[in-house]
Amino acid sequence: MLPAAFKSACKKKKNGSPVLKTKIGGMVLPSPIGLAAGFDKNAEVFNATLSLGFGFVEVGTITPDPQNGNPKPRLFRLPDEEALINSLGFNNKGMLYVSRIAGMPKLGIVGVNIGANAKSINKVVDYTTIFEFLARLFDYVTINVSSPNTKHLRDLQKPEVLEKILQNVSAINVSLKKQVPIFIKIAPDLNENNVTEILNVCEENNVSGLIATNTTTSSKTLKKPISFEGGLSGKPLFKQSNKILKLLAKRKNASTILIGVGGIFSASDIYEKIRLGASAVQIYSGFVYNGSMHIKKMEMELENLLLNDGYTSIDKVVGTSIR
Ligand SMILES: Cc1cc2nc3c(=O)[nH]c(=O)nc-3n(C[C@H](O)[C@H](O)[C@H](O)COP(=O)(O)O)c2cc1C
Repeated sequence: MLPAAFKSACKKKKNGSPVLKTKIGGMVLPSPIGLAAGFDKNAEVFNATLSLGFGFVEVGTITPDPQNGNPKPRLFRLPDEEALINSLGFNNKGMLYVSRIAGMPKLGIVGVNIGANAKSINKVVDYTTIFEFLARLFDYVTINVSSPNTKHLRDLQKPEVLEKILQNVSAINVSLKKQVPIFIKIAPDLNENNVTEILNVCEENNVSGLIATNTTTSSKTLKKPISFEGGLSGKPLFKQSNKILKLLAKRKNASTILIGVGGIFSASDIYEKIRLGASAVQIYSGFVYNGSMHIKKMEMELENLLLNDGYTSIDKVVGTSIR
């Protein structure tokens, strides 16, 4: 049986706790805790995952054409590290399959994460193609230029290439009946100069915000470093992703929104990312390790953390540790 306090917190969440309610890019989130991209690759379970308590979910990564991804085995648990290693490589059913959601009711905010096909000869064009096809069906679009599992994808983070992608998608966005917020998801394996350049390009090209970060290719944060191919997520990513988040928070314009992701396992991890400058967060590995009940539990605990520190809303906490 569930404890009474937990039951009442769940009921409260359903009605939306005013403390956890937050607004990013014009979207009202009942909670700042989102499901990160890669879980619902084909936009098949977004209503089910929203029902678990997530304030928003990001489906994808979706590419223009369907593709199988990299050969198996391609997903591993490192239980002692509370980490995952994946080299999936954008296995997905493609944008045509995903477009079947047109007209389908959504229980909350659903964003779409878009990427390029592995075999594409012009990866920049892939983003334009898929943005044009899918953007109007979702609440926001994330441009993923940070997966380590598609050869040369991270090269698209180079300012001149990113600028081209952003100019193309912005031109389509302005022509839509309802414009969508655009986010850029970046890697944790960037230096200070890379991060600043990316931020500048984003701020010059109508991007609503940045998502920091994707998985890391580095093993140096593991307790027992091993060599691997693919991207590492979970606990070992927490500090590195926070480093990037903090850098962005210190340099960004006031209107640029940050979404923090990487290594979240508890409400205090979320609180730390919000205090560093995130207006919302996303989780993947912590959800895999701790299961579905964990989201509502963290929401209850996050609310208590805020109230104990005298805060009555998320936006009052954003960036407090770097001011
Ligand atoms: C199995 C798996 C698949 C993923 N697939 C994607 C993806 O398709 N697109 C993407 O942008 N990020 C993907 N990610 C990265 C996550 O969205 C997230 O950025 C990363 O795992 C860090 O968060 P975490 O430490 O909470 O897992 C994937 C992560 C995992 C573990």
